[in-house]
Amino acid sequence: MKIGICNDHAGVEYKFRLIKYLKGKGFEVVNFGTDSVESCDYADFAHPLARAVENGEVDKGIAICGTGNGMAITLNKHCGIRAGLAWNTAVARLVKGHNDANILVMPARFVSYRMAVGMVREWLNAGFEGGRHARRIEKIPVR
Ligand code: RB5
Repeated sequence: MKIGICNDHAGVEYKFRLIKYLKGKGFEVVNFGTDSVESCDYADFAHPLARAVENGEVDKGIAICGTGNGMAITLNKHCGIRAGLAWNTAVARLVKGHNDANILVMPARFVSYRMAVGMVREWLNAGFEGGRHARRIEKIPVR
């Protein structure tokens, strides 16, 4: 499985640590984020990741910024994206189980790295529950 990852300056450290973790687990990882701690704009990195998920270049995505909101708001402008913001492992599991999120978004400034890696693990291992949740996500796109 190929995972795309993006971040702004607030997410650089967690991004590098997560890339190492994911590669160690055998995932292929594509880095769409900045590698610098210089202040930058999250949308410049969110859009390329969203496009890569939409066109199948990567299977799933992970996005990290300070609060997670800049990334989530930008990513969810793309109609092929369901980006879910998570702040603990239960939410990370449910964002897959209930919302079938194809991008996991995390707030680097408000969670520990230990929590972040736990969230990634939960989200990757979770399955979409379907049923009533499938009906709900079908109603999301603006028609
Ligand atoms: C950067 O300072 C911060 O605004 C950004 O990482 C994010 O939290 C925006 O939503």
